[in-house]
Amino acid sequence: MKNEWYKEAVIYQIWPRSFKDGNGDGIGDLHGVLEKLDYIKSLGADAIWFSPLYPSPNADYGYDIADYKNISPDYGDLDLFKQVLDGAHERGMKVLMDLVVNHTSIDHQWFQESLKGKDNPYHDYYFWRKGKGKDGKKPPNNWLSCFEGGAWEYNKDLDEYYLHVFAKGQPDLNMDNPKVRDEVKSIMRFWLDMGVDGFREDVITYISKKEGLPNGFPLPIATGVEHYNKGPHCHEYLTEFRQDIMKDYDCFMVGESPMTNSKDALKYTAGEDKVLDMMISFDHMQADCLVTDTIVTPFSLKKLKKAFTNWQNDLYGRSWNALYIENHDHPRVISRYGSEKFWKESGKMLATMCYMQCGTPFVYQGQEIGMVNNHLTSVDQFKDVVTFNNEKLFKKLGFSDSAYLKIANRTSRENARTPVQWDKSKYAGFSTAEPWFSVNPNYTDINVKQQEKDKDSILNYYRKLFKVRKENKIFIYGDYKEHMHESKDFYVYERNYEGKKALVICSFADETKTFRVPAGFDLTKGKLLLQNYKDAPARANICPLRPYEARVYLFE
Ligand code: GLC
Ligand code: CA
Repeated sequence: MKNEWYKEAVIYQIWPRSFKDGNGDGIGDLHGVLEKLDYIKSLGADAIWFSPLYPSPNADYGYDIADYKNISPDYGDLDLFKQVLDGAHERGMKVLMDLVVNHTSIDHQWFQESLKGKDNPYHDYYFWRKGKGKDGKKPPNNWLSCFEGGAWEYNKDLDEYYLHVFAKGQPDLNMDNPKVRDEVKSIMRFWLDMGVDGFREDVITYISKKEGLPNGFPLPIATGVEHYNKGPHCHEYLTEFRQDIMKDYDCFMVGESPMTNSKDALKYTAGEDKVLDMMISFDHMQADCLVTDTIVTPFSLKKLKKAFTNWQNDLYGRSWNALYIENHDHPRVISRYGSEKFWKESGKMLATMCYMQCGTPFVYQGQEIGMVNNHLTSVDQFKDVVTFNNEKLFKKLGFSDSAYLKIANRTSRENARTPVQWDKSKYAGFSTAEPWFSVNPNYTDINVKQQEKDKDSILNYYRKLFKVRKENKIFIYGDYKEHMHESKDFYVYERNYEGKKALVICSFADETKTFRVPAGFDLTKGKLLLQNYKDAPARANICPLRPYEARVYLFE
């Protein structure tokens, strides 16, 4: 297996609006990031991935970009960004930008030009189409957007519709147009020339739409997705980006790819013609839901294990995993897969379960202190286009306001977007002014300052875990073998590397359960590298495991 920096790295994700407000206007910004670089480094982070920092009208909080080569005034400016970039580099951390090129914002100059008429050179940057039906008033096909009703928006002046597979404010770029692909490469070069180290490529497997834009199989949302996810020219366009860029730069690329299994991922991330270094997958984020977070099911440990194990087994030695359990698109993981009651134990256990696997850890802001879901008291406190869209869908199905509020509080990605809880002062030390979005009221108990002081905190556990991972290459390069797959309580796997073995034991039970060590292991001979309870655990090979207990043993 080839050693590359990203394989040994820990990547910290910043969703800038809620990270830290440095200039007192209630909105997180790059001043705040600059203040916190030492903190990020102290976790053991080797790179920062910034969710979009570009100018945006915020139809989707930055994922609708109005200018790809600039910084939003909400967050600072290019000079301030350069200071952050230098500051990160001085501390040995790389910087990754979010590259959102499936769509732009409607405020982008290209889209504004495209509105000027069919002869405008930018018209063909997007999917403008005539309506269907006798009077031409029906949309060009039956596609539904992922975020906001139908996937086509009508423009009266042009008497045409434009395609948006996300929100109305996110018109899809026509990647079949070579000029658009040149623009993408020019954006990449702009940031790489400034010194950025790579990109997280947003919904990158959506960039090629099937010719003729045929009708899709009817679904409640995202009808048509089979015609654009991993579409006909997707691999080809990504090859073009990769080859063109990699000849001049050492650029890291991780691509987000919804609805992709581990076998598909290999086509993009393995072998000589790989187009991405890794893929952000979704299978393991569906252990308590179907397809989207909104359709909830009871949490299934077996589903979780199956998803992780498939990716671990299929990618080992061929490609590389992106290990994550939180980002800005999902509710907080303790509230989903762990337990708010066993908050500290489950927070540490979930980190152990995920990051002792083979792959690169991605940590999302606030995850390292065990931030949990928020509980808003009325639907009008929400801010996100997805929450609004779901509200419409659920209301159509007859759900009341209060019934939908419950669903949103459990499933909305806004749970991950509350301001980071730095201390117990007003507004959680995030800002001196009222923040743009509500602070979780539990900030007086859960905050960075308190956890800095507490040796036993979730924060200090994350630090230790990443140290252990760095000091023991087995956790980076070792193979993975799952045990006790049928267990509904335990997730157990071993790692093997250069004659050493490690055993990772995680309990998902909320009560003490008896654990039998898998054949071939003797816990009394192992070195206990990590554990999430303060007092020493039983060392026998048949022993009780306490609620959400996690242990990592090394056998040399
Ligand atoms: C990705 C982003 C998400 C965004 C969507 C549309 O899934 O992570 O936040 O809303 O793409 O750009
Ligand atoms: Ca600010």
